[in-house]
Amino acid sequence: MPLLSLKCTDFRCLESAALEFSSGNNLIYGANASGKTSILEALAYLGRGRSFRGAGTRELIRHGADEFVVIGKVHNGTREVALGVRNSRSGLEVHADGEKRSSAAALAEALPLQVIDPDVHELVAGGPESRRRYIDWMAFHVEHGYLDEWRRFRRALKQRNAALRSGANRRSLSGWNHELAELGGLVDLARRRMLEISRPTIEEFGEVLLGSPLGIEYQQGWSGDKSLEEALAEAVERDLQLGSTQAGPQRADLRLVYDERQARKLVSRGQQKLLACALILAATEVVQTHLERPLLLLLDDPAAELDRESVGRLMGCVEGLGCQVIATTLDRQQPLFSSSPTLFHVEQGQVERAT
Ligand SMILES: Nc1ncnc2c1ncn2[C@@H]1O[C@H](COP(=O)(O)OP(=O)(O)OP(=O)(O)O)[C@@H](O)[C@H]1O
Ligand SMILES: [Mg+2]
Repeated sequence: MPLLSLKCTDFRCLESAALEFSSGNNLIYGANASGKTSILEALAYLGRGRSFRGAGTRELIRHGADEFVVIGKVHNGTREVALGVRNSRSGLEVHADGEKRSSAAALAEALPLQVIDPDVHELVAGGPESRRRYIDWMAFHVEHGYLDEWRRFRRALKQRNAALRSGANRRSLSGWNHELAELGGLVDLARRRMLEISRPTIEEFGEVLLGSPLGIEYQQGWSGDKSLEEALAEAVERDLQLGSTQAGPQRADLRLVYDERQARKLVSRGQQKLLACALILAATEVVQTHLERPLLLLLDDPAAELDRESVGRLMGCVEGLGCQVIATTLDRQQPLFSSSPTLFHVEQGQVERAT
């Protein structure tokens, strides 16, 4: 039973809201601009310490208020854990299990979640950053020590970039090259392992949702016939000109192969959504299997952009995962789940249990 309850104050249009969830399927319905996405965004904030839409703090604090607070209770498989975030102009404050935490990683560990919203197709159609984040999310939960490796790599990258911008010479850069290559190699290896673990599940969901095979390849972010240290050494002049490091896992991407050509160039928006859903559902299953506990899946208007048959296939896959689901809909009559979910109605930012 992952998430038991949510309380939030001054989060977007939600002045004060309290919800108690079931461990299975939950459905929030309401008219346009009633506050459905705001509730999901508050939930995602509790598990990530940031907005899933990339919204800044000022956008999220209710107009006229100084801060927002989101708190929740989670069952981590063994016991109940309280989580809380407070965000104001002075910054983010994270509490987990009775203690103040220095980073949002404690939230992600306690409440692993994934989101499918109407912009989910961006995972396929948008830039590579969201695909790197996708694979890093799996690695964070499955690969012991990945967060630490990733952070050390980011720090080394930042320092090398600062050295490039301050016009460092080739000799001093070779020290950075060595360290960055070593740390980048660890990040690269963990991501490759992750892709190998998740590939069969990604392919399976792709086949079910799109009706044809889906392939996926990892592109490491530098020329394949060289070691990262060689690639860094070779590109020093270009890096000095540009003031940033061009080779390495910070440039990696996932290449989706659909119908033997590149997915993001070809598929329709609805197909892009299904493709992105296949990726997200596969990641949810992989992490859930590894952690041996159900994850939380947030579905914001899952029917958007999809025909009735596709919605049926998507929801069939979602239910097959056996995770906790919190979905939103405009139309409570539209059948999303095979059995009645726990219902909530939201109107002008006020949420109530409904029957
Ligand atoms: N910081 C804020 N303070 C107050 N209200 C806000 C804030 N941010 C957004 N809102 C308002 O909250 C309302 C609800 O937005 P939300 O996106 O949650 O609606 P929704 O129910 O998901 O609508 P839709 O069905 O169109 O997706 C909107 O009227 C929006 O303008
Ligand atoms: Mg919405």
